[in-house]
Amino acid sequence: MLTNLRVIVLAAGLGTRMKSKRAKVLHRAGGRTLIDHVVGTALELTTPEQVAVVVGHQREDVEELMAPRRVRFVHQREQKGTGHAVMVCRDALESHTGLLLVLYGDCPLLSVETLRALIERQRQSSAAATVITTTLEDPTGYGRVLLDAGGSVQAIVEQKAATPEELQVRIINSGIYCFRSDLLWESISSIQPDNPAREYYLTDIVKIFHASGHKVNAMHLDDANEVLGINTRIELAGVDRIFRERKVRQLMLDGVTIEKPETVTVDLDATVGPDTVIEAFARILGSTQIGEDCTVGAHSIVRDSQIADGVTIHPFSVVELSTISSGAHIGPYSRLRVGSYVEAGAHIGNFVELKKTRIGPGSKANHLAYLGDSEIGPGVNIGAGTITCNYDGVHKHPTRIGAGAFVGSNSTLVAPLEIGANSYIGAGSVITEKVPEDSLALGRGRQIVKADWVSKRRSEREVER
Ligand code: UD1
Ligand code: CA
Repeated sequence: MLTNLRVIVLAAGLGTRMKSKRAKVLHRAGGRTLIDHVVGTALELTTPEQVAVVVGHQREDVEELMAPRRVRFVHQREQKGTGHAVMVCRDALESHTGLLLVLYGDCPLLSVETLRALIERQRQSSAAATVITTTLEDPTGYGRVLLDAGGSVQAIVEQKAATPEELQVRIINSGIYCFRSDLLWESISSIQPDNPAREYYLTDIVKIFHASGHKVNAMHLDDANEVLGINTRIELAGVDRIFRERKVRQLMLDGVTIEKPETVTVDLDATVGPDTVIEAFARILGSTQIGEDCTVGAHSIVRDSQIADGVTIHPFSVVELSTISSGAHIGPYSRLRVGSYVEAGAHIGNFVELKKTRIGPGSKANHLAYLGDSEIGPGVNIGAGTITCNYDGVHKHPTRIGAGAFVGSNSTLVAPLEIGANSYIGAGSVITEKVPEDSLALGRGRQIVKADWVSKRRSEREVER
């Protein structure tokens, strides 16, 4: 942790170019919101009470999302530009005398190593600030950095305010700066909204420093990826892709086999153990943890779930907020909804849906079933087409099935219901009452066979004619 460092994260803008109802920093890349990436990086440098997030658009949502990070919030009531966003932090931070890092909430790829280098650069210099710059093939939209003969920053001109000549410059402002706090607070109020957008541009502070005899240094990054800012959904997709490529590369380096990695999505917070195989088009999302020697089948989606070692998820399955123990088989085409537990060695097959249901070790529900609000013991066989009727239109009710029970195909189990251990349910039954253990329950119309019925009918008809 660096002492005497403060961080401001600008996150108050709506992000007009996103054309969204949602504030830009609440959009996601790599499975995390943009603001969470930036705040997470800041917190690797310093403690939460040293980090101030400037909020405005949808500030309740941003603050709620960031609450676990325990950072401070500063409210920018009207979004009058990046310079104004820093100005509103004056009361909270002016007394501070060390270094002040300013980060933009729409620049999530930035690494903590780069920030450390920036701080070090600034610490060792006599400049008022150091800004991270890079060179872009297409610098459209970014502020252009004008350097003097000695390589220090003369001015930053915004796209909208730049002359045709300045627009030719391909060195851009990343929006990441390290300031000397005292000089920043001395100069910030001199920023004027004298530009076509009538905004207070933080970038104008460079000229103000110059006028009072202070320099601004540039720290040029060769890898432009780190400082890509997001203004449009196209840029959002581009940054998301970079996060995902990094993640699958790291997993492969850590011993995970990934088929057609360019098609696979793994959120940054997900973990996958070695010798697990992830097939094409799989999506592993949220806080999912997957053990070793598993398979995640093609086109399967696993979200916020715990998967133990040696689990096979066949293609086209969806697993959400569920837990799967070792050696279990899921799918193809299974759906595990919230609160499902599949215990060791159990099999859940095609077109089987579970919700808030525990399936005991070695139990099987291999085809076409809905099991909701159920506790199913070990060694149970659930026949094809079994349905737990857990909802009476008003309330949900539980179903309990004891160890070793055999539920015949196409059974309708009307909850609340208890089926005892080792009992049998005849196929096609509608079961509404408790079944004691070791017993057979049948709840269906008895079959009637009328011998020769067809031939009799035929001869009757012939008589009529
Ligand atoms: C800014 C820089 C530009 C730089 C680019 C890098 C300025 C004037 N321009 O332009 O030089 O190349 O970033 O990505 O700084 N925000 C607030 N309050 C406001 C306005 C903005 O908190 O009143 C926040 C936004 O939520 C966003 C960040 O500041 O997270 C940057 O704002 P944005 O409007 O995206 O700036 P750019 O036009 O991209
Ligand atoms: Ca931006």
